[in-house]
Amino acid sequence: MADILAELETRRADARAGGGEKRVTAQHAKGKLTARERIELLLDEGSFEEYDMFVTHRTTEFGMAANRPPGDGVVTGWGTVNGRQVYVFSQDFTVLGGSVSETHGQKICKIMDMAMQNGAPVVGINDSGGARIQEGVDSLAAYGEVFQRNIEASGVVPQISMIMGPCAGGAVYSPAMTDFIFMVKDSSYMFVTGPDVVKTVTNEVVTAEELGGASTHTRKSSVADGAFENDVEALNEIRRLIDFLPLSNRDKPPVRPFFDSPDRIEDSLDTLVPDNPNQPYDMHELITKIADEGDFYEIQAEFAKNILTGFIRLEGQTVGVVANQPMVLAGVLDIDSARKAARFVRFCDCFEIPILTLVDVPGFLPGTAQEYDGVIKHGAKLLFAYGEATVPKVTVITRKAYGGAYVVMASKHLRADMNYAWPTSEIAVMGAKGAVEILHRSDQGDPDKIAAHTKEYEDRFANPFVAAERGFVDEVIQPHSTRRRVCRAFAALRRKEQKRPWKKHDNIPL
Ligand code: HXC
Repeated sequence: MADILAELETRRADARAGGGEKRVTAQHAKGKLTARERIELLLDEGSFEEYDMFVTHRTTEFGMAANRPPGDGVVTGWGTVNGRQVYVFSQDFTVLGGSVSETHGQKICKIMDMAMQNGAPVVGINDSGGARIQEGVDSLAAYGEVFQRNIEASGVVPQISMIMGPCAGGAVYSPAMTDFIFMVKDSSYMFVTGPDVVKTVTNEVVTAEELGGASTHTRKSSVADGAFENDVEALNEIRRLIDFLPLSNRDKPPVRPFFDSPDRIEDSLDTLVPDNPNQPYDMHELITKIADEGDFYEIQAEFAKNILTGFIRLEGQTVGVVANQPMVLAGVLDIDSARKAARFVRFCDCFEIPILTLVDVPGFLPGTAQEYDGVIKHGAKLLFAYGEATVPKVTVITRKAYGGAYVVMASKHLRADMNYAWPTSEIAVMGAKGAVEILHRSDQGDPDKIAAHTKEYEDRFANPFVAAERGFVDEVIQPHSTRRRVCRAFAALRRKEQKRPWKKHDNIPL
């Protein structure tokens, strides 16, 4: 009997050894942790329940019959993050380069199926040489099965991808369909075709890091939602993100204890908006002053910085924030900011996370570049996302809300539930200068007349009261009481129900 029990431990030790000491040392030398070390950091201590530790591939081609490592290059199972269930797979680069075989794919599919059945998020840790070359089409089929599950799981359970090594070729499309992608600086990359193929086809010379490293994907392509310095920081930050999210679309977001009075008054907000309407201010300040304990988990912080997206808590409850940022391009809406915010709004709506929108927007960015690249269609994404979202929506206009951008940014007309405006708000078709140029073109040579027209326009429109008279703004509020007003608004909306007409699904302008 003792022999039999000992054999289990021997087999377990063999599986846990991964690709062996030499390859583990090589992994560490690249600044990367192993698949199992990553799971240990991601999950609460001792909470990991592993599946399929002894699964091996069935290939016999290319001498593979003699090389059948237990686990087949991916560690799968579930555990908890601050006591809440999470499913995880972690590719083991030390075993056949973490390459995806038929059985490797089946292991991932198994935990995805369990996650959907049991209503818990999936965290995928990607570190793989891609399709296992020796398995040919079986490997491609395995990817296809994972892709299909990514699609089925979308909007059912949160899916988070950590890119912690290579992720190339068609393999990128599994993370691409998950809700969030995070990368580790200098040790991870994602691309559809690598530098060698790029050189052959387009004659461009580019490194893997330049083509698909963390900087590229967080700043240029927006494929990734964030980047971290190393594996440890990345896994800690993912734990922090999971704390904001519901486990599935069957659950409400978690409610955390909070130690920050919802009635907190912030007098400094009364002077946040400068007297000069063209002078910027940092919208981060407003977000952190509204949030419980000033905690803001920003998503896509390095991309389209003219709009801010991320999570805060109000009275311990998760709220998604979308805010124009006057510090960058005066907070204008453009293709990138509309795409960034639209995807975020849709994530919040899938998972019943209420949305707070902070508005200071002078309009859409003009120019041929924007028009040729389809700002009409991309801008419509954000408009559509807000209009279809049925979660509680609270909006605060701090300063400018001009033209179409006013309507897009969670206006009353898109069924926002509570629309506040600060007394500094200017809600109009456009700013005074532009309006006077159009309305009084013939007076352009006369500065006195132009000044008089501008003053008249500002007196009439550069305020929140015209909109408030029509009920498009529910209340004009003192900036210092914003946290209290917003907390009370969301509290009043906790049991909100909004019906929408039956449809198979909508046709958002992609
Ligand atoms: C089988 C693989 C493998 C693969 C790596 N290995 N990739 N085995 N299939 N795809 C093995 C290597 O043979 C080696 O085994 C070990 O993993 C480590 O690989 P190294 O090359 O020594 O590591 P490194 O120098 O760090 O280079 C990593 C790499 C390189 C850049 C990822 O391995 C590489 O280019 N691999 C092939 C990448 C690729 O073209 N994949 C197919 C992409 S297309 P030993 O025994 O020596 O340790 C794709 C399609 C998906 O994935 C389609 C979905 C629909």
